[in-house]
Amino acid sequence: MSAAWPYPRWVAHRGAGKLAPENTLAAFRLGARHGYRMFECDAKLSADGVVFLMHDATLERTTSGRGTGGELPWGTLAQLDAGGWHSRAYAGEPLCTLENAARFCLANGCHLNIEIKPTPGLEQLTGEVVAREAARLWAGSEVPPLLTSFRPESLAGAQATAEHLPRGLLLDTLWKGWLETALTLGCTAIVCNHELWEPSTVTQAQSAGFRTLSYTVNDEWAAQRLIDLGTDGIITDRVDLFSPA
Ligand code: G3P
Ligand code: CA
Repeated sequence: MSAAWPYPRWVAHRGAGKLAPENTLAAFRLGARHGYRMFECDAKLSADGVVFLMHDATLERTTSGRGTGGELPWGTLAQLDAGGWHSRAYAGEPLCTLENAARFCLANGCHLNIEIKPTPGLEQLTGEVVAREAARLWAGSEVPPLLTSFRPESLAGAQATAEHLPRGLLLDTLWKGWLETALTLGCTAIVCNHELWEPSTVTQAQSAGFRTLSYTVNDEWAAQRLIDLGTDGIITDRVDLFSPA
């Protein structure tokens, strides 16, 4: 039997990160304007240990900077333009700290799925620091953020630091031992590439007590298939297509 699940079905990916610059507050605001009450984001560490939101290890695709984001201090990262790459309307949008994402979510009654996206080599440390920060920022809140990662070492770091925060194992393939790993890590959810969910895998995960979520679902037929399969959560870029109401 699965534990109580406090999160909505629909989750806006990277904020609403196709229509606005991903992992910025502008994307969160846009997702919220479309009725979304839960956001997924990617979290990593600056060189001086500040948790900030960015998908790639390197800065080039989504900021005006160059090189590895995790090698720069927050003071330098905070000066970058993380919106101009997307469109003129968002030029000057800054990178977002986890702290400011938490402020937005808590002030607006929104939930957060924090994907721990470590700079390579910093898997366990990133899990530890993200979990410590999340526990601090959401202290006293009724619904904690959901921490997810493709990297078991990051989830182990989160588990060791703030065991009470819910965790989910992200899977892009059903690698050998995924179910046992999720059990060992005390996960409450499995978050799969949506194509991996079949009746047999859903039954396997649900029988072991896991909630079942999917990324990144941008077509109506795919969303309907996942709903028909009885899964719990859908992470989408298409906040303009799917109404979470
Ligand atoms: O958290 C689900 C999804 O965001 C994982 O893929 O590459 O978009 O971080 P990616
Ligand atoms: Ca992600």
